[in-house]
Amino acid sequence: MFDRDTPFNDLPPLPPTTEVETPAVLKKAIAASRALAELKGMAERMPNQVMLIDSLVLQEARASSAIENIVTTNDELFRAASDEALPASPEAKEVLRYRQALNHGFRQIRERPLATNLFIEIAQLIKQTGFDVRRTPGTRIANGFGETIYTPPESEAVIRDKLRDLETFMHAEDSLDVLVKMALVHYQFEAIHPFSDGNGRTGRILNILYLVDQGLLNLPILYLSRHIIEHKAAYYEGLRRVTEEAAWGDWVLYMLNAVEQTSLRTRQQITDILALMDAVREHVQREAPRLYSKDLIEQIFRQPYCKIQFLERAGIGTRQTCAKYLRELERLGVLRGQKVGREVYFINQALFELLTR
Ligand SMILES: Nc1ncnc2c1ncn2[C@@H]1O[C@H](COP(=O)(O)OP(=O)(O)OP(=O)(O)O)[C@@H](O)[C@H]1O
Ligand SMILES: [Mg+2]
Repeated sequence: MFDRDTPFNDLPPLPPTTEVETPAVLKKAIAASRALAELKGMAERMPNQVMLIDSLVLQEARASSAIENIVTTNDELFRAASDEALPASPEAKEVLRYRQALNHGFRQIRERPLATNLFIEIAQLIKQTGFDVRRTPGTRIANGFGETIYTPPESEAVIRDKLRDLETFMHAEDSLDVLVKMALVHYQFEAIHPFSDGNGRTGRILNILYLVDQGLLNLPILYLSRHIIEHKAAYYEGLRRVTEEAAWGDWVLYMLNAVEQTSLRTRQQITDILALMDAVREHVQREAPRLYSKDLIEQIFRQPYCKIQFLERAGIGTRQTCAKYLRELERLGVLRGQKVGREVYFINQALFELLTR
């Protein structure tokens, strides 16, 4: 029996005993899968897929961290991201660590299974501590008034067992829809709550890694955190109601809807960014044909805060040449210069707006 003040060591393993793939769930799963497949197809046709990832990942890092009230401004974050050695606020650093954790996970799943050890590494990177699954009691989930709403399972052995069951379910060859499984897995991971902190963010990174692992995406470009922030109360309530009332249907529908809406939104965002890139390319070709190069345009679309060193590192020219190019782009109205301390940024304002609107 569930009691909110007692460690929920009876958390049942997946799959749920009741039928989750109801007609309403299947219908939504089809719509969400279609939207996601279109996003995947679009990304595959893009000439420079990797170019966009950096920026999209950074926005996900910002949104997912904001769910935990780790709040940064875009300006602060893009500056911090442009050079991780620069001094930055603790919040900006924590957001950058989320990005690092996600990228690490993405690289690792090509070589090893998405399993407990990798979950631990991801949490460690986010929290920048050597921590492991919980060994000591005391972790609980509280609401805004400090009242306990859930106490996760306790004891290292129990937690590790439950994580092992979860892994088995994730990789089992069953007939469940992968998106439905992602929703089940996210609940289960949060209910196990294996760490003393960072569980929400680790669980949200697992969502995207799972989709890549299962071949629904080739690149990590589907980021649900923004949708979750916009529907945060329902996110918490959905998780809580699975535990208290086995309300799987509403929870799965919530996640499927998040996938569908986010796929549509991301596709629109990519379309807009590509259109902007075309417009800038034409503008530069027309106004400054000697300045124009494909590489230069790509560099100023990699992230909205460009620096002379970035062009230099990309082999576009000497420091002087790169500086001249960026100033020329500023003169053309493509970039806006900003000096902060000793750093000079050339901001692609239109890209900034598309990424952050
Ligand atoms: N009733 C609940 N049952 C299970 N999990 C829950 C419940 N309510 C919230 N959660 C999960 O717990 C997370 C918070 O846990 P924790 O503080 O360890 O993670 P975090 O990454 O530091 O925080 P956040 O997820 O808020 O960014 C929430 O994001 C959510 O995923
Ligand atoms: Mg926390």
